[in-house]
Amino acid sequence: MSTRRKLVAGNWKMNGSLVANEALVAGLVAGLGEVACDVMVCPPFPYLAQLRSLLAATPIGLGAQTLSEHPVGAFTGEVEAGMLRELGCRYVLVGHSERRSLFGETDAAVAAKFVAAQGAGLVPVLCVGETLAEREAGLTEQVVSRQLQAVLDLAGFAAFTSALVAYEPVWAIGTGRTASPQQAQAVHAHIRGLLAAGNEAVAAGVSILYGGSVKPQNALELFGQEDIDGGLIGGASLVADDFLAICRAAN
Ligand code: PGA
Repeated sequence: MSTRRKLVAGNWKMNGSLVANEALVAGLVAGLGEVACDVMVCPPFPYLAQLRSLLAATPIGLGAQTLSEHPVGAFTGEVEAGMLRELGCRYVLVGHSERRSLFGETDAAVAAKFVAAQGAGLVPVLCVGETLAEREAGLTEQVVSRQLQAVLDLAGFAAFTSALVAYEPVWAIGTGRTASPQQAQAVHAHIRGLLAAGNEAVAAGVSILYGGSVKPQNALELFGQEDIDGGLIGGASLVADDFLAICRAAN
């Protein structure tokens, strides 16, 4: 068993409201007593200030779902890393597959966002993962390697002492179709191996989360794998009891 601390992260995506967020956090806080892992949630940008105050007296960390790779300036509609820090974020997702596929984020842009996040003291959660077509073509390791390498080229291996990786097979996100624990473990081990090739200590210490239709029913077996250090949870993070059950599975 590894000594890495487990983390369960909630990616709320474009969901929530002032009222719903308050109820969800109240539900989470009520059940946190039985949770031993680290927990964080990523609400949409407009709710960061609300969540900062709702989470202030709790151990739940705050994260954002993306950030700009640019510094402050004329970038209408963008949000930069320092702003996220000021609003109490500790984490930020980088390169979520929805950002890559729907908003055209390239490997290079994702790498630049990763560096911008660390530059402001945020912990980036680098999301990688293959599409169904890529998996069926036997390209899973190649795709994940390419996505990781783009960040390594810009940020270096040591940058992963203060970053996390999330393996999220695109075909498993929001589809109800989960990677089997063995499929996920194989890719997690591959990712750790890529990092170990450059720095063994960094590879041993970095937490690699699994994401893609994690539910209370499958979390225990996934989190029991040697190289799976927790989860990045979408749909199930919007239901307090489900998210808490997933957190307990990481205990
Ligand atoms: P899901 O989403 O749990 O709803 O599959 C995971 C994610 O996109 O991070």
